[in-house]
Amino acid sequence: RGELSPEQIDWVIDAYTRGIVADEQMSALAMAILLNGMNRAEIARWTAAMIASGERMNFDSLSRPTADKHSTGGVGDKITLPLAPLVAACGAAVPQLSGRGLGHTGGTLDKLESIPGWRALLSNEEMLNVLDTTGAVICAAGDGLAPADKKLYALRDVTGTVEAIPLIASSIMSKKIAEGTGSLVLDVKVGSGAFMKNIEDARELASTMVALGTDSGVKTIALLTDMSTPLGLTAGNALEVRESVEVLAGGGPADVVELTIALAQEMLTAAGIKDADPAKALADGSAMDVWRRMISAQGGDPDAALPVAREQHVVTASASGVLTRLDAYAVGVGAWRLGAGRARKEDPVQAGAGIELHAKPGDTVTAGQPLMTLHTDTPEKFDYALASLEGCYDVAPAGTAFTANPIVLDRIA
Ligand code: URA
Repeated sequence: RGELSPEQIDWVIDAYTRGIVADEQMSALAMAILLNGMNRAEIARWTAAMIASGERMNFDSLSRPTADKHSTGGVGDKITLPLAPLVAACGAAVPQLSGRGLGHTGGTLDKLESIPGWRALLSNEEMLNVLDTTGAVICAAGDGLAPADKKLYALRDVTGTVEAIPLIASSIMSKKIAEGTGSLVLDVKVGSGAFMKNIEDARELASTMVALGTDSGVKTIALLTDMSTPLGLTAGNALEVRESVEVLAGGGPADVVELTIALAQEMLTAAGIKDADPAKALADGSAMDVWRRMISAQGGDPDAALPVAREQHVVTASASGVLTRLDAYAVGVGAWRLGAGRARKEDPVQAGAGIELHAKPGDTVTAGQPLMTLHTDTPEKFDYALASLEGCYDVAPAGTAFTANPIVLDRIA
């Protein structure tokens, strides 16, 4: 339970990245950090050492201010897809270096890869070019960015040490600071479908990340947002792209629209852009124009039909009344088991697999009506997915009062 000195932290991160410290030794240190925590000075130094393990990008050549968003991961969290083009349509440049899904939370790159032709891997020059010409780019982080985190994150994933707040905060912020964005809005998810199951832990994670960003000269704010139930009506790659396009076309589920606009407003304010109206940019098609240019610039065809899974299975409501709970984690695991997610980094994902919801908490349902449709190319997975959905919803008698959680639970700046 001693404190690591700055020299010890610099040494271990560098030596681990270069393969001098073995995985077994680093696992022991990660487990000690999970159990004992780190203080603010240790977390700041750990983050700086991970940034120093690779390159730092620079967007000074752009004429627009940069703004980025990072979500800690949830179920049905497709917000990056409408958000990046929306914020670009309002005047900021959005360099969105994203990841793939692991476990029950989906990954932005997996979702976009369901668009025929779309490429996640861009060189730094290509990335800058797409950003400069369209205002937004969503692509994979290059190997040069925080390589220490890449290695450590993979190790944490298989050693049960992902959920340490100092390690999550330094992992996310090292990549965002190295990426070179001028401002950053963090969407820290809270609830069953998130890493942080309760608001106190989410607050600690958010304030740790806000302090790291601010101390590094990145204007950083965090919203704590609800992840007790899935966002929108879809969880799964192509299903979520379809819903995102509906939002860009001025429609889409109310919770997805509300969170997209709330995050857009925060990003624009953090980037110093005043008087922009994100709701208008969704309604008048200007965000959709940026989306189409951004997808095309990365080889995708925005007009191509999206993949559809070969088989469907409908789950019906067991009773009539008010749907009072629909658990995000169960839906996330169900979509993952249907093939939307992967168990190992190298596994493929099915573009069409996932879960489509026909009702959300607060809706009135009738016994026997479709509650959700499961989609997969591998129907032998239906039973496995259905097992995870066992007991995932509650229906209360008709007339029962129901108050939905607000989407935005708190703001930390
Ligand atoms: N996302 C990251 O990039 N790192 C973590 O540790 C957790 C979520």
